[in-house]
Amino acid sequence: MKPASRTGIVACCISFLFLLTLSACGTTPAGNAENGQKWYKMNNCTACHGEKGNGGRGPNITGIDMGFGSFFRKLRKKDAPIMPPFPESKLSEQDAADIYAFLKSAK
Ligand code: HEC
Repeated sequence: MKPASRTGIVACCISFLFLLTLSACGTTPAGNAENGQKWYKMNNCTACHGEKGNGGRGPNITGIDMGFGSFFRKLRKKDAPIMPPFPESKLSEQDAADIYAFLKSAK
């Protein structure tokens, strides 16, 4: 094999791995914090988590430090002891992303 083509293969592998990493990490949909605040109130998250996620009956989630995946699973989960599940019919993935952005930006 000529050195030049080997370089080509290596470069190709590297860019492939790079894209793979990007797609694995880039799963947080873009969210709109302003809308998120509305969905957060509309879904009554405020009742348990406070006006800005600063706690109450539920844990403090202001500035949320979990990844979007964990956050999203938490919302969809049906067997949490206290927190009700939020299925697609109540909260779309985009709404969840908006709420996530709102909580991230909340102080
Ligand atoms: C009836 C009260 C209640 C409501 C309404 C509620 N939560 Fe919760 N939430 C809790 C409680 C209690 C926990 C912790 C224990 C559990 O999982 O049930 C929790 C846990 C969480 C967690 C995980 C926190 C952590 O640090 O592990 C997130 C994120 C969260 N809630 C977000 C939300 C969002 C967003 C909404 C609105 C769409 C919402 N919750 C509505 C009570 C509530």
